[in-house]
Amino acid sequence: KSPPLICRCNKTDFLSLTDTTVGWTYHYSNYTMTWTRARWYCQTHYTDMVTIQNQKENDYLVSILPNRTGSPYYWIGITKAHMNETWTWVGTNSTWIGEQSWATNEPNNNLSTEFCVEIYTNRGKNRGKWNDEKCSKKKYAVCYQAQCNSTSCNRGKCQETVENIFCLCDPGFKGDRCQTAVDCAPLSEPDNGYLRCFGGNQTNNSTCQFQCNMGFLLIGSSSVTCGVTGIWSGPRPTCLTIACGALLDPEKGSHYCFNPHGSNSFNSSCWFHCELGFRLVDVTKLLWNNPVPLCQGMTISYQGNNCYFRSVNL
Ligand SMILES: *[C@@H]1O[C@H](CO)[C@@H](O)[C@H](O)[C@H]1NC(C)=O
Ligand SMILES: *[C@@H]1O[C@H](CO)[C@@H](O)[C@H](O)[C@H]1NC(C)=O
Ligand SMILES: *[C@@H]1O[C@H](CO)[C@@H](O)[C@H](O)[C@H]1NC(C)=O
Ligand SMILES: *[C@@H]1O[C@H](CO)[C@@H](O)[C@H](O)[C@H]1NC(C)=O
Ligand SMILES: *[C@@H]1O[C@H](CO)[C@@H](O)[C@H](O)[C@H]1NC(C)=O
Ligand SMILES: *[C@@H]1O[C@H](CO)[C@@H](O)[C@H](O)[C@H]1NC(C)=O
Ligand SMILES: *[C@@H]1O[C@H](CO)[C@@H](O)[C@H](O)[C@H]1NC(C)=O
Ligand SMILES: *[C@@H]1O[C@H](CO)[C@@H](O)[C@H](O)[C@H]1NC(C)=O
Ligand SMILES: *[C@@H]1O[C@H](CO)[C@@H](O)[C@H](O)[C@H]1NC(C)=O
Repeated sequence: KSPPLICRCNKTDFLSLTDTTVGWTYHYSNYTMTWTRARWYCQTHYTDMVTIQNQKENDYLVSILPNRTGSPYYWIGITKAHMNETWTWVGTNSTWIGEQSWATNEPNNNLSTEFCVEIYTNRGKNRGKWNDEKCSKKKYAVCYQAQCNSTSCNRGKCQETVENIFCLCDPGFKGDRCQTAVDCAPLSEPDNGYLRCFGGNQTNNSTCQFQCNMGFLLIGSSSVTCGVTGIWSGPRPTCLTIACGALLDPEKGSHYCFNPHGSNSFNSSCWFHCELGFRLVDVTKLLWNNPVPLCQGMTISYQGNNCYFRSVNL
């Protein structure tokens, strides 16, 4: 039966490192145990044995551990299985060892089986340095508690260090908790057309549909969808004018046009007229692209293909 647990790492110590964010926290046992037992203790009550990734973390860790005048000190989470293996941090599978990490003349593997590591917390010159030790020795456990959890980052991966916790967002999301979907660039209406969007503010999965005004032809895709990375599925289509063929002058006559959208295009209106002594006949049978106005009689206006004929009698 294990003694009650106590967390001595107080929050104000921790917050002194940083004002606004909190990463993982350190905790230690108030009784000693073997290294294997220490790992079990950490994994049971916290996240794992402490991992030190740089000198700053090492300094910080030492600063929060109680000073001790002699052995036993504290187990840290670095070990190796055999003499010729590299030292590995069990919490992260990383292998960081600083230039100044080991105490003088360490690691010495004095007993040939010193495959675990303690950290000195005395007041001497070896303060904060490491020493290899036989794993069966009893020391205090130092653990860390991760602050990342499954809800830390809405749509991303939570990352933390001792002084920081942050989110690496999935594609399509941003914000400190990845809570905001990346928007696609706002779309404007095409010239001579309009658009309607559905499914939100031009974010993931919202769709915009395009239509062209009467007499204009849509070139491109009539609908685009905003993808997860904030990019539209295609370019905005354009609206081209539908041009009718050029009109011929009637024999013994001529024509002129009013072209609001370009020559012989949507809503272009053309008038035929005849030379003196002639009048227009049969204009009702005319199609725009096949106009054969005859200058004999006279008739009224005609509409086809969105281009208008008007006859005039002069
Ligand atoms: C550890 O701390 C608990 C709670 O404060 C206490 O009851 C227990 O005696 C302590 N154990 C040792 C070995 O100091
Ligand atoms: C470790 O390495 C030394 C020297 O390279 C070698 O003599 C020894 O046999 C190795 N020991 C093991 C357990 O591999
Ligand atoms: C740890 O790292 C070593 C070397 O990079 C790799 O071979 C091993 O599979 C890793 N172990 C785990 C549990 O990730
Ligand atoms: C090696 O271990 C022996 C036995 O524990 C001890 O007497 C000796 O001082 C150690 N030597 C070093 C350099 O730590
Ligand atoms: C522990 O020792 C260090 C180095 O001598 C000292 O700066 C620190 O104030 C000590 N901490 C406590 C709680 O006594
Ligand atoms: C998860 O972590 C966040 C900080 O990243 C914290 O605000 C939240 O309370 C935690 N939720 C749970 C259920 O532990
Ligand atoms: C949509 O965008 C507008 C302007 O950018 C903003 O005011 C509005 O709150 C947004 N609506 C939603 C549901 O995100
Ligand atoms: C995505 O759009 C489709 C079609 O508009 C809709 O059925 C679906 O529910 C949308 N999904 C999300 C997650 O908004
Ligand atoms: C984007 O929307 C699609 C369709 O609804 C959905 O399957 C997908 O999970 C969404 N992606 C993200 C990152 O939310």
